[in-house]
Amino acid sequence: MDSLKPSFPDLKSRIIPVLVLDDVTTGLKMCELLCQNGLPVAEFTFRTPEAAELITEAVERFPEMLIGAGTVLNLTDLERALNAGAKFGVAPGFNPQVVQTAIARNFPFAPGVCTPSDLEQAAGLGCRVFKFFPAEAVGGIPFLQAIIAPYRHLGVQFVPTGGLTPENAKEYLKIPEVISIGGTWLGKDIPDWEKVARAIRQAVEAVEEVQE
Ligand code: 3PG
Repeated sequence: MDSLKPSFPDLKSRIIPVLVLDDVTTGLKMCELLCQNGLPVAEFTFRTPEAAELITEAVERFPEMLIGAGTVLNLTDLERALNAGAKFGVAPGFNPQVVQTAIARNFPFAPGVCTPSDLEQAAGLGCRVFKFFPAEAVGGIPFLQAIIAPYRHLGVQFVPTGGLTPENAKEYLKIPEVISIGGTWLGKDIPDWEKVARAIRQAVEAVEEVQE
């Protein structure tokens, strides 16, 4: 079964801003800035009660954006993501029930993995796209490359997240199996919107440099 890989959305950017926001207006402002500065993608995490409403509003107002749900920990969160119209979902860990239901509902979903055993179990259910979390804390790029080696032939792809920074982003993006990276750094200066816009532009430039 290879059901998730083909249906994972075409990422318009190789960097996914991971946003933990408790205010819908702030989230929509962030979406506006992301679009204006060439990074039309955002992951809103279910770590705040406002996240579902924020996803619903963002999907409606910014149809050109790829809006995803993060921190999808259980079936309730998954249902909230689907109801809000999220275009993809991710989780820090691997929950077989969530993965199976996401596949059954044809919802692009990347569970979190950080060991070969996690990866094998998720791959066994059909996953081919994984969030590699917490990337830097478990060993960073050498660890990720060691994990990829025995599974490369399966066509595995990764979104490393956790400890990613403007400084180490490019090295991750150079790994062929890394389709995108995620990080909270793009939202850390909210509500200093000038600073946020600068960080977004720098991220876009970093991606362009890697792709040259
Ligand atoms: C996540 O939610 O994906 C991580 O907490 C992001 O980690 P970071 O804050 O180190 O970017």
